[in-house]
Amino acid sequence: MTLTPVAPLPEHEVRVRAPGKINLSLRVGPPDEDGYHALSTVFQAVSVFEEVVATPSDVFELTVSGPQSEVVPTDEGNLALRAARLLAERVGIDAGVHLHLVKDVPVAGGMAGGSADAAAALVACDSLWRTGLGREELVELAAALGSDVPFSLTGHTAVGSGRGHLLTPALTRGEFHWAFAVQHRGLSTAAVYREFDALHQGRHVPEPDPEDDVPLMQALRAGDARALGAVLHNDLQDAALSLDPGLVEPLAVAQDAGALGVVVSGSGPTVAALARSRQHALVLAAAFTAAGVADRVLTAAGPVAGARVVSATD
Ligand code: C5P
Repeated sequence: MTLTPVAPLPEHEVRVRAPGKINLSLRVGPPDEDGYHALSTVFQAVSVFEEVVATPSDVFELTVSGPQSEVVPTDEGNLALRAARLLAERVGIDAGVHLHLVKDVPVAGGMAGGSADAAAALVACDSLWRTGLGREELVELAAALGSDVPFSLTGHTAVGSGRGHLLTPALTRGEFHWAFAVQHRGLSTAAVYREFDALHQGRHVPEPDPEDDVPLMQALRAGDARALGAVLHNDLQDAALSLDPGLVEPLAVAQDAGALGVVVSGSGPTVAALARSRQHALVLAAAFTAAGVADRVLTAAGPVAGARVVSATD
């Protein structure tokens, strides 16, 4: 007798994509009593994506694939798992979830890969558990998880204040093209902020002023990549260079290859170079590779949307 194979039941699965980001401008003020720094920043979400696949489980568990996945912690400390637990607690759901992260955003690279995972996990579990929470409540949970998580939910281009978590959308025109020099030796965000404090010890650090970014906002509204390149700004760049002096090399290579502007992304060590066009971004990436100044190179365009469901099965 032959047995007829039974097709497995389709598993309920939600797939969410969330982008990495760069800070077009990052202005850092003095630390508050918790050690957090007042920021005025302009975020742009770029087309390098994390994907999170959520499936039902009795427990909270995590698997990871993609570049550098071997260095991603899969224990309780992982921000995506913390996001899922926080949402379950908030809505009083007695369920677990299996999260699979497909990583592409550099790990500990200053492009908010961990924040993108957390934002994607919130959106995925929200859909899986049909919590009925509104966008505002998700943003509130996101802010509790980390300063960059609200932006990973929102995407596009936005001005961040407070710890970077209070967002105002920014008007932009057209697309901007980027090349990234990625280093496998990551930098800890907390360590870079500590180095910023050490470098400014004994000096007055003023509150960051969003007015300083008026020319940048004008460049964005005009879709003028050349003007934007001239005003890219990062107050954490010196701290990142102090901890990782080798970063001067990718900065110099991008300049020599005609980048419109080049800046360390967030707390680094990824170096972001603004290109004239998609084609020119490939040229900049090739220059990073030829000079041997990156462990991995990426090209991307921005702005793109924040964390979104890309597919869901019932
Ligand atoms: O908020 P998040 O967990 O991403 O921050 C990581 C670390 O970066 C914090 O523990 C803090 O040391 C530093 N940080 C800061 N000021 C900010 C954001 C982050 O000092 N506005």
